[in-house]
Amino acid sequence: MQKINAVITSVGGYVPEFRLTNAVLETLVDTNDEWIKSRTGIEERRILKGEGLATSDMGVPAVLEICKKRGIDPMEIDCMIVATVTPDMVFPSTANLICDKIGAKNAWGFDLSAACSGFLFGLTTAASFIESGRYKKVVVVGADKMSSIVDYSDRTTCIIFGDGAGAVLLEPTTEDIGVKDSILRSDGSGKDFLHMKAGGSLKPASIETVTAKEHFIFQDGQPVFKAAVKGMADTAFELLERNSLTGDDIAWLVPHQANKRIIDATANRINLSHEKVMLNIQKYGNTTAGTIPLCLWDWEKQLHKGDKLVLAAFGGGFTWGATLITWGYDSN
Ligand code: UT7
Repeated sequence: MQKINAVITSVGGYVPEFRLTNAVLETLVDTNDEWIKSRTGIEERRILKGEGLATSDMGVPAVLEICKKRGIDPMEIDCMIVATVTPDMVFPSTANLICDKIGAKNAWGFDLSAACSGFLFGLTTAASFIESGRYKKVVVVGADKMSSIVDYSDRTTCIIFGDGAGAVLLEPTTEDIGVKDSILRSDGSGKDFLHMKAGGSLKPASIETVTAKEHFIFQDGQPVFKAAVKGMADTAFELLERNSLTGDDIAWLVPHQANKRIIDATANRINLSHEKVMLNIQKYGNTTAGTIPLCLWDWEKQLHKGDKLVLAAFGGGFTWGATLITWGYDSN
């Protein structure tokens, strides 16, 4: 029997209209445009405004776009994986809620919590489902409403994060294209440097946790920065090496958009010229699980069948990794 590969056949995305600029942040905290741009590369981020709107409301248009482009009905989706750390509710899962909102009544699904590496973890999981022959249409969504867990009086975190969602459809093929290889890692000892203190079973929500602002992101930036540079660069390098590839063979690096300096270090490590790096951090900031699929969404028209892409991420947990894919179609 021929080997079944899992290939991305459609990409969708959604970013809210409201733009939170560096100039506005200057009015909220002691920061300035020059510092933010030079230390992170971010100029503005999108924020989901409006009562009753949540992560699923960004995932829905992203998934509907996929279906429209591919010409499929949501009823054809077999499985939906939603990578997020800002689910609409602790339960039911955001995957369930998206399936309900779009009428994907034949799908099962679940949320995957791996912070900024969530999309890569989801993509690798979905690819295995397809490669096994069990499922034919698996959707992976990376979506976060980071503004729901950001303290806009903390200048070390509020300048970084934004809201957004991206999604891909994976389908089987016997062609030599699709998700080729992944190196994924996690290390729970990194929790001390990037976490949310309360709201879980360790420290349930209480008046005290709210007063102490413990439902917001806590980040100790420097150690996270160092681990991110090492983790993303090392796994991307190792991935190329074990597939006998060099930077010359790679059409695009698709990095998690946390900090332009981390992205530059990863590109340098695999000897990739900077024109081959997808970069949209300046306009969306760090959308956590959304960054990588949003890059694919922004660059889709420039991708060609056979292009080799390295996707790389690092996030809270710690979680990190790199995935090699061979792109499966020319758009237009
Ligand atoms: O996506 C999930 C994974 N997360 C990441 O990958 C993020 C990794 N970390 C980072 O990207 C960076 O550490 C930050 C962008 C968060 C911070 O940049 P940094 O270059 O590491 O700054 P720092 O924390 O070392 O602070 C340098 C200085 C400090 O002032 P002093 O002590 O030198 O006087 C800070 O107080 O910059 C100050 N500072 C700011 N100044 C203006 C910190 N935040 C700001 C700010 N505006 N927003």
